[in-house]
Amino acid sequence: MTQTFKVVVDRYNPETKEASAQTYAVEFVPSQTVLQTLNLIRDNLDDSLSFRSSCQGAKCGSCAVALNGRPVLACNTMVDGRDITIGPLPNFPVISDLIVDRSQSEDYFFAMLSQTGSCEGSCNGHNHKEPEAVLAESKIDYDNLSRCLGCMVCTSACPYNAQMSENGPNPSMLVTVLSSGVLTNKDGQPAFPVGQNSDYCSLCLNCYTACPAGVHLNRANAQSKGAYIQTKGQKLRDRLLGHAEFADKVATLTPGLNNAVVKNSLVRKTLEKTLSISSQPSLVKFSKPLTSERAVDKEPSPIGKKHKVAFFTGCYARYNDTEAGKDAIAVLEKLGIQVEIPEQSCCGLPLMANGDMATAEQKARSNVAALKPWVDKGYAVVSTCTSCSLMLKAEYQEVFGIEGLTDCTYDLAEYINKLVADNEIELELTSVPMRTAYHTPCHLKSQKIGMPFIELLEKIPDFKVDAMDNKCCGQSGSYGYKAEKYPISEAVGQELKESMQELKPEIGLSECGPCQLRMHDVSGLPVAHPVSILRRALK
Ligand code: FES
Repeated sequence: MTQTFKVVVDRYNPETKEASAQTYAVEFVPSQTVLQTLNLIRDNLDDSLSFRSSCQGAKCGSCAVALNGRPVLACNTMVDGRDITIGPLPNFPVISDLIVDRSQSEDYFFAMLSQTGSCEGSCNGHNHKEPEAVLAESKIDYDNLSRCLGCMVCTSACPYNAQMSENGPNPSMLVTVLSSGVLTNKDGQPAFPVGQNSDYCSLCLNCYTACPAGVHLNRANAQSKGAYIQTKGQKLRDRLLGHAEFADKVATLTPGLNNAVVKNSLVRKTLEKTLSISSQPSLVKFSKPLTSERAVDKEPSPIGKKHKVAFFTGCYARYNDTEAGKDAIAVLEKLGIQVEIPEQSCCGLPLMANGDMATAEQKARSNVAALKPWVDKGYAVVSTCTSCSLMLKAEYQEVFGIEGLTDCTYDLAEYINKLVADNEIELELTSVPMRTAYHTPCHLKSQKIGMPFIELLEKIPDFKVDAMDNKCCGQSGSYGYKAEKYPISEAVGQELKESMQELKPEIGLSECGPCQLRMHDVSGLPVAHPVSILRRALK
């Protein structure tokens, strides 16, 4: 018997200018792609449906659409027989049905191009000027960029671009400009203009997560951010936000006093006026450092339990939400795992996100040197912070070319799930009657390991967790603290706000500290790291 599934297609008629949703019952065959589904509709059910495709082999980039709201390439994305919605690529003007107008990005490309002398003689009227900022050729990885299909999925997935006016900065054009390799300054030297594209990037990495061709846009974005700051100079505010570890170390000398100071509305208004630190989002709280109670271990122990963890606390669990750090240690020890805290420094992400690539690289080198002896003695490096684990696992190698921690670093829940799957440990979980909503940090999504904490939390009796499907909370580390960026940040966080209002959970959960703060700000609800729930369930 033929199996069918329901396909809802968001349609647009350019003549009547009417949008509608049309439902089709489509035959399902094994290994069916979204593009085959659209072809089946057009060939058998409705020949008026318009969409683009050409190569049918993930090479030309023409077939990008939204599958259940997420931008994908239709020709290499499978359907599984469950009902789906197919729409035009989000955040682009629709021409007809699933065909969108991509020319807005081209305008931005030409605006960047006009900053060089390369189009002289052929562009009549462009006002040539020196590029705002130029990325050195040595930093450009053409192999990486050459994988770009020009499908615009990255731009469609960028939550920040979606809140900016048309023809604005976007990830696709950054790749196009950097990979063109033909631009020259007036002096004939290659020029790779990066402009404000970089300044408006929050490094949330949704572009990289969505890219169907595996282009490491993170590397291009981080390096262009660095080039922009080098040329334009770094604001004092951005230097402070980048050096969060230093600020934490100082503030946690007298945490009570500093918590009172940063909560004071007059202080916040003064910070906004003098340093452009927005007074809107909650600031982190300061705690007595985790390491004041739990000593830092200088050397790895050669003997000990079968499973050993070198805990990378990150700044947040060390200086801000130390409860999450304590709960992580308690959970691991309860599961019979040896935990030690090696010497370490900030993972470098706040520095990178604020354009200080040189100091971020120093931190990366020092962390790899400090953790390598532990890894060599059989320790797994585990972190409660998804941004820290992303840096250690992927960005050290991808952005700085520093190897050594990729295969031995785990997100905490990923590590526990692995030991459970290998029958190395058993989880005995007791009831935690509670209704919660979970926000997936962008830097967990970019690790492409699913939602490991959801896997764990769903095993807890009487515990209800709704995993919200939001693009980004809008805070994105230090981005939401920048006064000029706050309106965009707030608009990005609207989706999260609406989800929390709809779900009305008792508490919000997320592994990422800044995401937790934004969850609290949009809902007024208490928030926590999911490891705190796990600790409760293990009692
Ligand atoms: S049809 Fe060419 S990439 Fe999908």
